[in-house]
Amino acid sequence: MNTALLWLMSVVPVVLMQSSSTTWDKIKAEYVSLYDAYSHASSPDSSTYHTIVPRSDATVPLPVSVRFELFSIGGFDAVDGALNLIGSLNMSWKDETGNFPNSKTHEVDTVIVDYSSVWTPVIVMVNSADSVSRVGDSTYKVRFNLRTAEVNWKPRMIAKVACEPDMTYFPFDQQNCELSFTTWFQNRSILTLTLGSSEWNLDNYDVNGVWEIEETTAEISEVGGYDYAMFTIKFNRNLMYFVINLVFPVLLLSLLSGFVFILPAASGERVGFGITCFLSFMVLLQTIMIYMPQT
Ligand SMILES: *[C@@H]1O[C@H](CO)[C@@H](O)[C@H](O)[C@H]1NC(C)=O
Ligand SMILES: *[C@@H]1O[C@H](CO)[C@@H](O)[C@H](O)[C@H]1NC(C)=O
Repeated sequence: MNTALLWLMSVVPVVLMQSSSTTWDKIKAEYVSLYDAYSHASSPDSSTYHTIVPRSDATVPLPVSVRFELFSIGGFDAVDGALNLIGSLNMSWKDETGNFPNSKTHEVDTVIVDYSSVWTPVIVMVNSADSVSRVGDSTYKVRFNLRTAEVNWKPRMIAKVACEPDMTYFPFDQQNCELSFTTWFQNRSILTLTLGSSEWNLDNYDVNGVWEIEETTAEISEVGGYDYAMFTIKFNRNLMYFVINLVFPVLLLSLLSGFVFILPAASGERVGFGITCFLSFMVLLQTIMIYMPQT
C-alpha cells in the first residue's frame, strides 16, 4: 500500500511535467507552422508576406466583417463640429494562407500573434477630424483560429469624428454623427466589407452625463469601387441638466417679479424690488451665455 502510494507520488509529477512540456512543444509547432506559411522561403528572417491578401481564389474578393463597439462618448464640440469617442473596431475575416484551415487537427485552437506577422486589413476612418491613419497598431494582437482559419482583430481607437452640429432646437437638440470606414487602396474586387450587425455593440458602454444615445445604425455602401462601412449614431442632450439650471430659475424669477404688485404701494419698496428682480435676470443671463453654444 505504502509503496504503491510512493510510486504514485513519484510518477504523477513526471507525467505532469511531460504533458506540459509536450503541450508547449505542440503550441510552438503551431506558431512555427503559421509563421512558416507567411515567411519568405529564401530568407526566413526577413519580412513576411503579410501584405498579400490571403485569398485562395484571386477572382473572389475577401469579405471582412466589421462591427463598431462604443465604450464612451468623450464629448461633443458644437463649435468645431467634432465628436470624441472611445471605441473599438471588431474585424473578422478568413485567412486562407498556406494550409489554413487544414484537415489536420490542431493541438491549440487559437494563437495570438502580432498584427504585422499575418495579413490584416488596412481600414481607415475617412471623416476623422484629426489624423487619418489605419485602424489598429502593434498594441493590439490578432487572434488566429487555426481550426477554422477565422481571424479576429479588435483594436481600440480614440476617435475624433467630424460631424455637423445642429443647434436649431437647443437645448432640445439631437445630434447625428457618422463614422465612415473604408478599405484603403483595395477596391471591391479585392476586399469587401460586411456587417457583423446592423447596430453598434453597446455592451460595454459607459453612460455619458450630458448625452443620451437615441439610436445606432450601421450600413455598407459602395462609392467609386470601394466599400464604406457607415456607423451612424443619434444622440440627444440630457434635458434634466438644463431644466434644473436654466428653465427652472427663469420660471421662478418671472413668477417672483409678478409679486411686485402684492407689495403695498405705500411701503415704497416696489421700485427696489423690481430692480432687484431685473438684476437677478441679468446675472442669470450671464450664466446662460456660458452654457449656450456659440453656434
Ligand atoms: C467580433 O466579431 C466576431 C465576428 O462577427 C464575433 O464572433 C465576436 O463575438 C465579436 N467580438 C465582440 C467582442 O464583439
Ligand atoms: C479595382 O482596381 C483595379 C485596378 O487597380 C481595376 O482593374 C478594377 O476594375 C477595380 N475594380 C472595381 C470594382 O472598381
